[in-house]
Amino acid sequence: MKKLILFTLIVAFFAGCYYDNEETLYPKLDKGCDTTGVTYSKSVVPIFQTNCLSCHSASQYLGSGGNINLDDFNSVQQVALKGNLFGAITHNPKNSAMPKNGAKLDTCSITKIKIWIDHGAINN
Ligand code: HEC
Repeated sequence: MKKLILFTLIVAFFAGCYYDNEETLYPKLDKGCDTTGVTYSKSVVPIFQTNCLSCHSASQYLGSGGNINLDDFNSVQQVALKGNLFGAITHNPKNSAMPKNGAKLDTCSITKIKIWIDHGAINN
């Protein structure tokens, strides 16, 4: 019995400290999704331009974007670090589902935004 407990502890210990790498954390659900070198400017901004700025641009956000300016890095970073950005695009019931009144973003776009947030939501 003692041996079994010891064995279980050893297994749990080693299983607990495997190294997280991007490939295992973000399996390529979408085979064509290139998640290498994700950055704010190269990966996140184009998604916003296509799907979000019609309401959240610098000139629109006060009227139609719920006061959230996704055209300004600092305000993007704020909603990203609060968790509301990821919640909104994954349709978490705690958040307003985004894009508002539109189809959910594709998995690849959501994955890229998640990688960017997980790496600190920095202006890169
Ligand atoms: C049709 C207009 C429209 C589009 C397109 C849109 N939004 Fe919004 N967004 C809003 C409005 C309005 C609100 C304020 C909350 C509400 O009314 O649901 C909001 C709120 C938010 C919030 C705050 C959510 C919360 O729970 O606090 C985030 C984050 C957000 N939008 C991100 C996005 C992102 C990212 C996109 C693109 C993928 C997007 N929005 C597209 C109109 C829009």
